[in-house]
Amino acid sequence: MNAVTELQTRALAAIEASENLQSLDDLRVRYLGKKGEITAQLKSLGSMEPEQRKAFGQAVNAARDALNQAIAARRSLLESQALENRLLSEKVDVSLPGRGEQRGGLHPVTMAMERAIGIFTKLGFDVATGPEVEDDHYNFEALNFPPHHPARAMHDTFYFGDGRLLRTHTSPVQIRVMEISKPPYRIIAPGKVFRSDSDQTHTPMFHQVEGLLVGEGVSMADLKGVLHTFVNAFFERSLAMRFRPSYFPFTEPSAEVDIGWEKGDGSEPGWLEILGCGMVHPNVLRGCDVDPEKYTGYAFGMGIERLAMLRYGVTDLRQFFENDLEFLRQFH
Ligand code: FA5
Ligand code: MG
Repeated sequence: MNAVTELQTRALAAIEASENLQSLDDLRVRYLGKKGEITAQLKSLGSMEPEQRKAFGQAVNAARDALNQAIAARRSLLESQALENRLLSEKVDVSLPGRGEQRGGLHPVTMAMERAIGIFTKLGFDVATGPEVEDDHYNFEALNFPPHHPARAMHDTFYFGDGRLLRTHTSPVQIRVMEISKPPYRIIAPGKVFRSDSDQTHTPMFHQVEGLLVGEGVSMADLKGVLHTFVNAFFERSLAMRFRPSYFPFTEPSAEVDIGWEKGDGSEPGWLEILGCGMVHPNVLRGCDVDPEKYTGYAFGMGIERLAMLRYGVTDLRQFFENDLEFLRQFH
């Protein structure tokens, strides 16, 4: 009997001292489980004298009930403590001020594109568009690139393998405009173009703005005038600019325009090519049913990333496409 009383006292003290649900359950198993100490006492009843058995049995049952009650009481206390701790740790303070939102901004290439479009729109040009997926006819053939002409190799074209290709320049829009309407024409065609090309001044996708002006008596002097006006308006400062004779199958004569440029690596200032241009080739006009005896015109195609580099002082064109927020935030 003394052993039962001693066992009960020890067990109750342990239950009272248990600090979490796991250790409480360990105590339940230790005293009341199949191999527990109280269970062992109950099992010993069988080998006792009948008169002894009754009193001992009552004492053991009373001890078992007392332990069960103590465990249940301790469990509900520990459970409510655990819940309270969790509520405290997961507390959301709804009265805290909001964190606010970061102000976004336009990408520098978008800003340069919109700036260029705005200037030409003021000069009276309409905006035309064409598809990014083209075929050989619009990208080359109608622009007077004969089949197997070496100038095709200069374009590093992405082909789909079924005759279609990603346009390598915006010049196919010239053809699309002249095919569906009569002269005079005065349009620009902004958009994405694609070439397998990548270094400090080239990326595989970049933007061009094409220009086409066809009418009676249009000359190379008009072309130079409009490009000078554009460059002055775009940069708002005077930059060295030069016309350099060049070659395109779809213009004759042809030129490229370079702007004086500091490479940013301490080397001597050099020239950065921003556009190609020229007088529309008679073959191109004829192919679109425009009479080259009556009409003449000029065309140009400028690289928008190059203009953005020069305007914002970026020395590596690839930075425009790395999506580095620290770089992009500078332009907000
Ligand atoms: C052309 O694409 C001609 N279609 C331009 C043209 C139009 C000439 C109308 C005559 C009449 P070019 O390949 O030189 O030409 O490219 C024009 C401009 O695009 C270049 O001056 C340059 O500013 C830009 N550019 C060319 N390749 C890249 C590139 N990989 N990454 C970024 N910009 C480029
Ligand atoms: Mg060029």
